Amino acid sequence: MRAAITGLGTAVPAQLLTNADLEARVETSDSWIVERTGIRERHIAKPDETTASLAVEAGTAAIKHAGIPPDAVDLLIVATATPEQPIPHTGAFVGEGLGLRCGSFDLQAGCAGFVYMLVVGSSMLTAGHLQHVLLIGSETLSRVIDPADRATCILFGDAAAAIVLSRSDDDGPGVLGWDLGCDGSAASLLEVRAGGSRRPATPETIAAGDQYLKMQGQEVFRRAVRAVVESAFATLEHAGVGAADVSWFVPHQANIRIIESAASRIGVAPQRTIVNIDRYGNTSAASIPLALAEAEEDGRLKPGDLVLMSGFGAGMTWGSALVEWGSL
Ligand code: ACO
Repeated sequence: MRAAITGLGTAVPAQLLTNADLEARVETSDSWIVERTGIRERHIAKPDETTASLAVEAGTAAIKHAGIPPDAVDLLIVATATPEQPIPHTGAFVGEGLGLRCGSFDLQAGCAGFVYMLVVGSSMLTAGHLQHVLLIGSETLSRVIDPADRATCILFGDAAAAIVLSRSDDDGPGVLGWDLGCDGSAASLLEVRAGGSRRPATPETIAAGDQYLKMQGQEVFRRAVRAVVESAFATLEHAGVGAADVSWFVPHQANIRIIESAASRIGVAPQRTIVNIDRYGNTSAASIPLALAEAEEDGRLKPGDLVLMSGFGAGMTWGSALVEWGSL
């Protein structure tokens, strides 16, 4: 038995933040941002749009696309680094919004969250008890970005994207191989220091700006390329295929230079690499399913294609999965 992607849905806030908007806010330039990151604009949630509300919108669309009734969903996983609130988990709000009473939980693995969730969801489904699993990557990173920090405010955007995974035959479409990893010695490279058990939020943490994401960009960059490449090769080996067999490479959209460098080292041609970072920036756990949904919508993804997905993020986590695409 395999777990196949049978539905996709997205939710993107209407409000845009362009490089010109950022030029007016911090010391930066459109040319610097485009050259160093490939990003031209991102979407930013309005105050009434939240991680859960975007997730409900994306989940609703994915369920509809899969052509199943909502109550056919047997399990809901929400991958997010920007939860609705500390307690309860975001999946509680999302399940309520979707009218579900199945089990749900959140998965926190930074920008590798989607790949982690795909592996967990697929494994639970193929363990034999489930027919359909709903996986939603949803982020409102704008809520944890310091608007005055030019190193981070240019990078991140808000969005949600969802997939339905359904049971398929053992020679049908589905997840063929995967690799997951985390090097916690690099935890301080990308972190929000306050608001948890180690450093609860206080007036002092707020004054220090510790509710905001802090990042050591250059070191994240260096490790990201290595992690994506090694993880991609481990996944191809697990699935028993070579880089030449990959139809599409769908990397986490963090920086165009990371994407191009990783694709070239793996041996996937640029025209086989799916990129939409220019229009969304880094949407963390939503970025891979958002790119998948666009590529499915415009007809690039075809049944039988082998799709290699790779993500990396805070932790530092990384993960890759190879999926044979089905007929959606
Ligand atoms: N505009 C103009 N100049 C800037 C900006 C900006 N927005 N930001 C930094 N600079 C300056 C720096 O101050 C520095 O100036 P200096 O030389 O006078 O000191 C110079 O530009 C170069 O800075 P670097 O940090 O070396 O720039 P780099 O080429 O590394 O690009 C970037 C920075 C884009 C952040 C890059 O390092 C990167 O993308 N890293 C990976 C980040 C990432 O992927 N994070 C997400 C991980 S996933 C997750 O889990 C959330």
